[in-house]
Amino acid sequence: MQITLEGKRALVTGGNTGIGRAITRSLVEAGAKVAINYLTHPETASMLLDETTERGGTAISIQADVSDPTSVAAMFRKLDETWGGIDLLVNNAGIDGVRSATWESEVADWRKVLEVNLFGAYYCAREALRRMVPQKGGVVMNITSVHEEIAWSGYSAYTASKAALGMLTKNIAQEGAPYGIRAVAVAPGAVESDINRSVWSDPKGKQDLLDKIPLRRLGSPEEIASLVVVLLSDQASYLTGRTVYIDGGMTDFPDFTHGG
Ligand code: BGC
Repeated sequence: MQITLEGKRALVTGGNTGIGRAITRSLVEAGAKVAINYLTHPETASMLLDETTERGGTAISIQADVSDPTSVAAMFRKLDETWGGIDLLVNNAGIDGVRSATWESEVADWRKVLEVNLFGAYYCAREALRRMVPQKGGVVMNITSVHEEIAWSGYSAYTASKAALGMLTKNIAQEGAPYGIRAVAVAPGAVESDINRSVWSDPKGKQDLLDKIPLRRLGSPEEIASLVVVLLSDQASYLTGRTVYIDGGMTDFPDFTHGG
Protein backbone atom coordinates (compact mmCIF):
# COMPACT_ATOMS: atom_id res chain seq x y z
CA MET A 1 0.00 0.00 0.00
CA GLN A 2 1.36 3.38 -0.94
CA ILE A 3 0.27 6.53 0.83
CA THR A 4 1.18 9.51 -1.30
CA LEU A 5 0.00 13.02 -2.00
CA GLU A 6 2.44 13.45 -4.88
CA GLY A 7 1.76 16.60 -6.89
CA LYS A 8 -1.36 17.61 -4.90
CA ARG A 9 -1.83 21.31 -4.24
CA ALA A 10 -2.63 21.82 -0.55
CA LEU A 11 -3.48 24.71 1.74
CA VAL A 12 -3.05 24.41 5.51
CA THR A 13 -4.57 27.26 7.49
CA GLY A 14 -2.57 28.11 10.58
CA GLY A 15 0.07 25.92 8.97
CA ASN A 16 3.01 27.60 10.71
CA THR A 17 2.59 26.45 14.31
CA GLY A 18 1.35 23.60 16.50
CA ILE A 19 -0.64 20.82 14.83
CA GLY A 20 -0.70 22.91 11.64
CA ARG A 21 3.09 22.90 11.41
CA ALA A 22 3.23 19.12 11.81
CA ILE A 23 0.55 18.78 9.11
CA THR A 24 2.55 21.03 6.77
CA ARG A 25 5.68 18.92 7.29
CA SER A 26 3.87 15.61 6.74
CA LEU A 27 2.12 16.85 3.61
CA VAL A 28 5.44 17.98 2.16
CA GLU A 29 6.97 14.62 3.06
CA ALA A 30 4.08 12.87 1.27
CA GLY A 31 4.85 14.86 -1.88
CA ALA A 32 2.24 17.63 -1.78
CA LYS A 33 2.93 21.26 -2.63
CA VAL A 34 1.89 23.17 0.45
CA ALA A 35 0.66 26.70 0.93
CA ILE A 36 1.31 27.61 4.54
CA ASN A 37 -1.26 30.10 5.72
CA TYR A 38 -0.40 32.17 8.79
CA LEU A 39 -1.69 35.27 10.50
CA THR A 40 1.03 36.10 13.02
CA HIS A 41 4.62 34.95 13.62
CA PRO A 42 5.87 35.32 10.01
CA GLU A 43 9.30 34.06 11.18
CA THR A 44 7.84 30.60 11.87
CA ALA A 45 6.40 30.48 8.35
CA SER A 46 9.72 31.47 6.75
CA MET A 47 11.62 28.91 8.84
CA LEU A 48 9.22 26.25 7.62
CA LEU A 49 9.68 27.43 4.04
CA ASP A 50 13.46 27.20 4.32
CA GLU A 51 13.21 23.76 5.86
CA THR A 52 10.92 22.60 3.04
CA THR A 53 13.25 23.86 0.33
CA GLU A 54 16.23 22.19 2.03
CA ARG A 55 14.35 18.90 1.94
CA GLY A 56 13.56 19.35 -1.76
CA GLY A 57 9.88 20.06 -1.15
CA THR A 58 7.66 22.80 -2.55
CA ALA A 59 5.91 25.35 -0.38
CA ILE A 60 4.79 28.95 -0.31
CA SER A 61 3.54 31.01 2.59
CA ILE A 62 0.51 33.27 2.50
CA GLN A 63 -0.46 35.69 5.21
CA ALA A 64 -4.23 35.92 5.57
CA ASP A 65 -6.84 36.31 8.27
CA VAL A 66 -9.24 33.39 7.82
CA SER A 67 -11.94 35.25 9.71
CA ASP A 68 -12.02 37.91 6.98
CA PRO A 69 -13.64 36.78 3.70
CA THR A 70 -11.77 39.44 1.67
CA SER A 71 -8.45 38.23 3.01
CA VAL A 72 -9.44 34.62 2.26
CA ALA A 73 -10.42 35.53 -1.31
CA ALA A 74 -7.01 37.17 -1.82
CA MET A 75 -5.29 34.05 -0.46
CA PHE A 76 -7.09 31.86 -3.01
CA ARG A 77 -6.21 34.27 -5.82
CA LYS A 78 -2.57 33.78 -4.82
CA LEU A 79 -3.08 30.01 -4.98
CA ASP A 80 -4.60 30.36 -8.46
CA GLU A 81 -1.66 32.45 -9.66
CA THR A 82 0.92 30.08 -8.17
CA TRP A 83 -0.45 26.60 -8.80
CA GLY A 84 -3.68 27.18 -10.75
CA GLY A 85 -5.94 26.02 -7.92
CA ILE A 86 -6.19 23.61 -5.01
CA ASP A 87 -6.75 19.89 -4.38
CA LEU A 88 -6.55 19.61 -0.59
CA LEU A 89 -7.80 22.12 1.97
CA VAL A 90 -6.93 21.62 5.64
CA ASN A 91 -8.93 23.98 7.83
CA ASN A 92 -6.69 23.89 10.86
CA ALA A 93 -6.58 27.49 12.14
CA GLY A 94 -8.38 27.82 15.43
CA ILE A 95 -8.52 29.56 18.78
CA ASP A 96 -10.04 28.48 22.08
CA GLY A 97 -10.93 31.97 23.28
CA VAL A 98 -11.30 33.52 26.69
CA ARG A 99 -12.27 31.11 29.46
CA SER A 100 -15.52 32.22 31.06
CA ALA A 101 -18.85 30.78 32.01
CA THR A 102 -21.40 31.33 29.26
CA TRP A 103 -23.34 33.85 31.36
CA GLU A 104 -20.20 35.87 32.02
CA SER A 105 -18.78 35.84 28.51
CA GLU A 106 -18.43 38.93 26.34
CA VAL A 107 -20.26 38.88 23.02
CA ALA A 108 -17.15 40.07 21.16
CA ASP A 109 -15.02 37.22 22.59
CA TRP A 110 -17.66 34.60 21.82
CA ARG A 111 -18.13 35.92 18.30
CA LYS A 112 -14.38 35.97 17.59
CA VAL A 113 -14.07 32.24 18.31
CA LEU A 114 -16.92 31.47 15.93
CA GLU A 115 -15.49 33.82 13.32
CA VAL A 116 -12.11 32.08 13.29
CA ASN A 117 -13.06 28.44 13.90
CA LEU A 118 -16.34 28.21 12.00
CA PHE A 119 -16.65 31.14 9.61
CA GLY A 120 -12.94 30.88 8.79
CA ALA A 121 -13.37 27.25 7.78
CA TYR A 122 -16.51 28.13 5.85
CA TYR A 123 -14.85 31.00 3.94
CA CYS A 124 -11.93 28.77 2.96
CA ALA A 125 -14.15 25.79 2.07
CA ARG A 126 -16.36 28.05 -0.04
CA GLU A 127 -13.40 29.29 -2.05
CA ALA A 128 -11.85 25.82 -2.31
CA LEU A 129 -15.12 24.21 -3.43
CA ARG A 130 -15.57 26.81 -6.15
CA ARG A 131 -12.36 25.38 -7.60
CA MET A 132 -12.89 21.71 -6.71
CA VAL A 133 -16.40 21.42 -8.19
CA PRO A 134 -15.40 22.32 -11.79
CA GLN A 135 -12.28 20.13 -11.60
CA LYS A 136 -14.38 17.31 -10.14
CA GLY A 137 -12.15 16.40 -7.25
CA GLY A 138 -10.60 17.45 -3.98
CA VAL A 139 -10.73 16.96 -0.24
CA VAL A 140 -11.87 19.41 2.41
CA MET A 141 -10.57 18.50 5.83
CA ASN A 142 -11.66 20.23 9.01
CA ILE A 143 -9.65 19.90 12.19
CA THR A 144 -12.22 19.85 14.96
CA SER A 145 -11.69 18.52 18.50
CA VAL A 146 -12.98 16.03 21.03
CA HIS A 147 -14.99 19.09 22.05
CA GLU A 148 -17.13 18.49 19.00
CA GLU A 149 -18.70 15.97 21.38
CA ILE A 150 -17.51 16.73 24.94
CA ALA A 151 -18.84 19.81 26.74
CA TRP A 152 -16.12 21.96 28.30
CA SER A 153 -17.04 24.43 31.04
CA GLY A 154 -15.78 27.90 30.27
CA TYR A 155 -15.45 27.27 26.55
CA SER A 156 -18.97 27.30 25.13
CA ALA A 157 -17.92 29.25 22.03
CA TYR A 158 -15.16 26.75 21.29
CA THR A 159 -17.32 23.65 21.77
CA ALA A 160 -20.18 25.18 19.77
CA SER A 161 -17.79 26.09 16.93
CA LYS A 162 -16.30 22.60 16.80
CA ALA A 163 -19.68 20.85 16.90
CA ALA A 164 -20.86 23.10 14.07
CA LEU A 165 -17.70 22.36 12.11
CA GLY A 166 -18.51 18.65 12.39
CA MET A 167 -21.88 19.27 10.77
CA LEU A 168 -20.39 21.58 8.15
CA THR A 169 -18.15 18.64 7.24
CA LYS A 170 -21.16 16.38 6.73
CA ASN A 171 -22.95 19.00 4.65
CA ILE A 172 -19.97 19.60 2.39
CA ALA A 173 -19.57 15.84 1.99
CA GLN A 174 -23.16 15.52 0.82
CA GLU A 175 -22.95 18.49 -1.55
CA GLY A 176 -19.52 17.56 -2.87
CA ALA A 177 -19.99 13.82 -3.41
CA PRO A 178 -21.52 14.16 -6.91
CA TYR A 179 -18.37 16.07 -7.91
CA GLY A 180 -15.89 13.56 -6.52
CA ILE A 181 -15.15 15.74 -3.51
CA ARG A 182 -14.70 14.27 -0.02
CA ALA A 183 -15.05 16.09 3.29
CA VAL A 184 -13.60 14.65 6.47
CA ALA A 185 -13.10 15.97 9.99
CA VAL A 186 -10.28 14.98 12.31
CA ALA A 187 -10.94 15.47 16.02
CA PRO A 188 -7.79 15.55 18.16
CA GLY A 189 -7.87 15.16 21.91
CA ALA A 190 -5.20 16.66 24.16
CA VAL A 191 -2.21 17.28 21.94
CA GLU A 192 0.91 18.95 23.26
CA SER A 193 1.02 22.30 21.47
CA ASP A 194 0.99 26.00 22.25
CA ILE A 195 -2.79 26.24 22.54
CA ASN A 196 -2.81 24.24 25.79
CA ARG A 197 0.74 24.92 27.05
CA SER A 198 -0.56 26.53 30.25
CA VAL A 199 -2.31 23.26 31.13
CA TRP A 200 0.37 20.67 30.34
CA SER A 201 3.27 22.76 31.65
CA ASP A 202 1.63 22.81 35.09
CA PRO A 203 2.06 19.41 36.90
CA LYS A 204 -1.41 19.52 38.48
CA GLY A 205 -3.06 20.57 35.24
CA LYS A 206 -1.21 17.87 33.36
CA GLN A 207 -2.21 15.13 35.81
CA ASP A 208 -5.83 16.21 35.60
CA LEU A 209 -5.61 15.97 31.81
CA LEU A 210 -3.89 12.57 31.88
CA ASP A 211 -6.67 11.21 34.10
CA LYS A 212 -9.04 11.92 31.22
CA ILE A 213 -6.99 9.89 28.71
CA PRO A 214 -7.00 6.06 28.75
CA LEU A 215 -3.60 5.93 27.00
CA ARG A 216 -2.26 8.12 29.84
CA ARG A 217 -0.30 10.52 27.68
CA LEU A 218 -0.82 13.56 25.52
CA GLY A 219 -0.76 13.16 21.76
CA SER A 220 1.93 14.68 19.59
CA PRO A 221 1.21 17.00 16.64
CA GLU A 222 3.01 14.42 14.44
CA GLU A 223 0.53 11.71 15.40
CA ILE A 224 -2.32 13.92 14.23
CA ALA A 225 -0.45 14.82 11.04
CA SER A 226 0.10 11.15 10.12
CA LEU A 227 -3.62 10.47 10.28
CA VAL A 228 -4.33 13.61 8.25
CA VAL A 229 -2.06 12.40 5.44
CA VAL A 230 -3.76 8.99 5.29
CA LEU A 231 -7.23 10.52 5.25
CA LEU A 232 -6.31 13.02 2.54
CA SER A 233 -4.79 10.29 0.38
CA ASP A 234 -6.61 8.05 -2.08
CA GLN A 235 -6.19 5.21 0.39
CA ALA A 236 -9.16 6.81 2.19
CA SER A 237 -11.17 7.24 -1.02
CA TYR A 238 -14.38 5.75 0.45
CA LEU A 239 -14.37 7.92 3.58
CA THR A 240 -16.47 11.06 3.57
CA GLY A 241 -18.84 12.99 5.84
CA ARG A 242 -17.43 11.66 9.10
CA THR A 243 -15.30 12.79 12.01
CA VAL A 244 -12.37 10.58 12.92
CA TYR A 245 -11.43 10.95 16.60
CA ILE A 246 -7.74 10.69 17.54
CA ASP A 247 -7.63 11.23 21.26
CA GLY A 248 -5.92 8.39 23.14
CA GLY A 249 -9.40 7.22 24.11
CA MET A 250 -10.63 10.48 25.67
CA THR A 251 -14.06 10.00 24.08
CA ASP A 252 -14.14 6.43 25.44
CA PHE A 253 -15.28 7.76 28.85
CA PRO A 254 -12.34 6.63 31.03
CA ASP A 255 -14.33 7.49 34.17
CA PHE A 256 -16.06 4.18 33.54
CA THR A 257 -12.87 2.17 33.98
CA HIS A 258 -14.28 1.61 37.48
CA GLY A 259 -17.80 1.52 38.80
CA GLY A 260 -20.87 2.36 36.81
C1 BGC B 1 -8.07 21.95 23.12
C2 BGC B 1 -7.01 21.65 24.16
C3 BGC B 1 -7.50 20.60 25.13
C4 BGC B 1 -8.03 19.40 24.40
C5 BGC B 1 -8.63 18.35 25.33
C6 BGC B 1 -8.51 20.66 22.48
O1 BGC B 1 -9.50 20.88 21.55
O2 BGC B 1 -7.55 22.84 22.15
O3 BGC B 1 -6.69 22.84 24.84
O4 BGC B 1 -6.44 20.20 25.97
O5 BGC B 1 -9.02 19.79 23.48
O6 BGC B 1 -9.51 18.91 26.28
